Amino acid sequence: MNRSSLLYFYDVAQFNDKVDPKDFLKMPDEYRDLLVRLLTIQADCEIGGPHIYVDHWTLRAPTVDDQWRVARIAAEEIDHCRKMLRLLKLIDVDRSDILERPRSKREVDAFKEDMPTWADFAAFGFLIDKVGEYQLDEMIGSTYAPIDDALPVILREEKGHVAYGEQQLEKLVKSGDAGRAQAQAAIDKWYVTGLDMFGKSGSSRTERYIEWGLKRRTNEEARQQYIAEMEPKIAAIGLRVPDRLQGRKYL
Ligand SMILES: [Fe+2]
Ligand SMILES: [Fe+2]
Repeated sequence: MNRSSLLYFYDVAQFNDKVDPKDFLKMPDEYRDLLVRLLTIQADCEIGGPHIYVDHWTLRAPTVDDQWRVARIAAEEIDHCRKMLRLLKLIDVDRSDILERPRSKREVDAFKEDMPTWADFAAFGFLIDKVGEYQLDEMIGSTYAPIDDALPVILREEKGHVAYGEQQLEKLVKSGDAGRAQAQAAIDKWYVTGLDMFGKSGSSRTERYIEWGLKRRTNEEARQQYIAEMEPKIAAIGLRVPDRLQGRKYL
C-alpha cells in the first residue's frame, strides 16, 4: 500500500453500519472482542458503585430522605448493570460472573476504594458518576444497534446522581468548617480518581473503538472535556480545585 492509498484507507475506515445482535457473529473478531469488553466494563462499573456504598450508607445517610435517595440510586445502578448484561445476553455472552467479583478485582480502580464519610458519597456521585455519564455518552449512536434503546433512561438517571452529589457537597460546605473540610478532602480524593478513569492518553485500543464506531472520543479528549466542565463547578461549590497532576496514572 503506498502513502496515498494508506491515507485513503484511514479516511474511509470509520465503520458506520448498525449491527443487529443476529449479525454479531458475522463481525470480525476485533469488533466482537471490543464490544464485549466495552459492555462488560460498563456492567462492572454500574454494579461497582452499589458494592461500595449500599451496606454502609443506605441506613446511615443523614436524613430519611437521603436514605431513600441512596436506596434509589443503588436501584438505578443495579438496573444499569442489568441492562448492560442484557445487551451482552443478546449476543449470547453471559457475564453475570461480575456480580460475584470481589471489590479488589473490579475493572476500574475507583470501585476498589472505600467511602468512609458522607462527603465521600457526595463527591463520588458528583465526580465519579459524572465520569460514568461521559463513558455512556461515548456510546450514543453506537454501531451496536440495541445500545440506543437503553441509553436515554440510563443517562437521565446518571445526571440525577451527579446533581444529588453536587447538592450534598453544597450543603456540607454551608454547614461550617468541619463540613467544608470533609467536602474538600473528598473532592481531593475523588477528582484524581475520576481523571484516571478515562484511561491512558494515547491508548491504541481507543483508536480501534473509535474506528469501529463503539466510542466517539479518545481518552484524552474526553478527560479534557471533563476537566473543562467540572473544575468551574468545583469552584462554584466553594471548594478548591485539586492539583490534577497529583495522581497522573493516566499520563
Ligand atoms: Fe449507572
Ligand atoms: Fe450513577
